[in-house]
Amino acid sequence: MTKEISNFTFYNPVKVLFGKQQIEHLPTLIPEDKKVLILYGGGSVKRFGTLDRVKGALKNEVVGEFSGIEANPTFETCMKAVEAIKDGQYDFLLAVGGGSVIDAVKYIAASAKFDGDPIDIFGKGVGKGLPIQSALPFGTVLTLPATASEMNSTSVISFKEKKAKVSFSHPLVFPQFSILEPELTYTLPRRQLANGLTDAFMHILEQYLTYPVGGMVQDEFAEGLLRVLITIGPDVANEDKHDYNLRANFMWTATLALNRILSPGVPGDWSIHALGHELTVLNNTDHARSLSALLPAVMIVRHEEKWDKLVQYAENVWHITEGSEEEKVEGAIRQTVAYLKSIDMPVTLSEVGVKAEDIDGLIDQLEARGNTAIGERGTQTLEVSRAIYEKALDLNFEDDGSDSPFLGVIDPSS
Ligand code: NZQ
Ligand code: ZN
Repeated sequence: MTKEISNFTFYNPVKVLFGKQQIEHLPTLIPEDKKVLILYGGGSVKRFGTLDRVKGALKNEVVGEFSGIEANPTFETCMKAVEAIKDGQYDFLLAVGGGSVIDAVKYIAASAKFDGDPIDIFGKGVGKGLPIQSALPFGTVLTLPATASEMNSTSVISFKEKKAKVSFSHPLVFPQFSILEPELTYTLPRRQLANGLTDAFMHILEQYLTYPVGGMVQDEFAEGLLRVLITIGPDVANEDKHDYNLRANFMWTATLALNRILSPGVPGDWSIHALGHELTVLNNTDHARSLSALLPAVMIVRHEEKWDKLVQYAENVWHITEGSEEEKVEGAIRQTVAYLKSIDMPVTLSEVGVKAEDIDGLIDQLEARGNTAIGERGTQTLEVSRAIYEKALDLNFEDDGSDSPFLGVIDPSS
């Protein structure tokens, strides 16, 4: 196993406009002769006035609307948008919403210019997306910090009938620009604020909690961003606390967590997302909740292979510098659980409505998707995934005074 930073190419062309009153810059971003289709979700942008601000700012003669993009956007809805684009001959798309709307717009932008069956955009395996030759240009106005979709080239789409949630990434679906106004987060309910904090937290961990290769820059960035989320989390999750700097730090952290600045040259895990997506397919669990419900179990079941990074995480993120390595790791897992609980996130599968009898089906779905050798080393087999789902069902986090009540798997003598 190499312990060196791998070769990498880093490319991110997204122009970010961050701060107050940034929507007003739209005319400088979209050429006036473009026919613009604004796409949004279930109506929050209408209810809270963002859509009116966007329409008021645009100077284009033709501006249409497409609404109804659902959380965990579906292929079926995306295809309706493609029809609307072809009918209206739109040539610029503007996503106004959270990760779901932005992800959908990426897929729509690619599908609208795709000659074959848009299903092929996903390629033969998840994340390939090689067949795209062109895509409609688009920009975004972000209303929910969480996914970093506003500054990456990934899109995650659900198929209702096929019962699948799959992703693709392609440089042609980077947004041309993204508008980030922290004040737009003031209307988010507590559940979505906590989801956003957690999704960002998980994105950092998927890129950091692997094995060390000496990527000091990547590690320092990751640890710094984690500490910011830990510091601001409880206050951000207080939906009534409309503190500008708090929300600005939240928004920028979530963007940096997955604009790929953390991942060049270092290993990535992403197995938690793979397992989490199957929970969403099963019962529409919110994306971030599907991840937090699995995280403690992942840290426990895979502690051996993640050991060095778990110790580093304990020391540099949670400042646990005293005691044995085992105590540090256990302390870090406990602190992680306490943090997630403090913002009302689930930490077990039972909290997201999953039962023991669902696990066979989840494993079948992973297998059907080809997720049989995942994780940073490609060694997470279906057996390991099953162990994680099973462990996540019934974790007991109460400290009853016994030795390592939930970390029984970590044998200090080994
Ligand atoms: O639909 P509306 O009415 O707009 O309401 C939304 C939605 O119900 C609401 N909302 C958004 N902004 C709001 C607001 N409510 C009040 N005030 C505002 N300012 O929030 C709800 C959730 O929105 P959604 O866009 O679904 O959330 P999120 O941003 O968490 O996106 C989740 C999707 O992104 C995918 C997930 O799998 C999931 O499908 N991901 C995309 C990634 C990427 N592109 O890189 C990576 C992630 O790991 C993730 O997989
Ligand atoms: Zn995520």
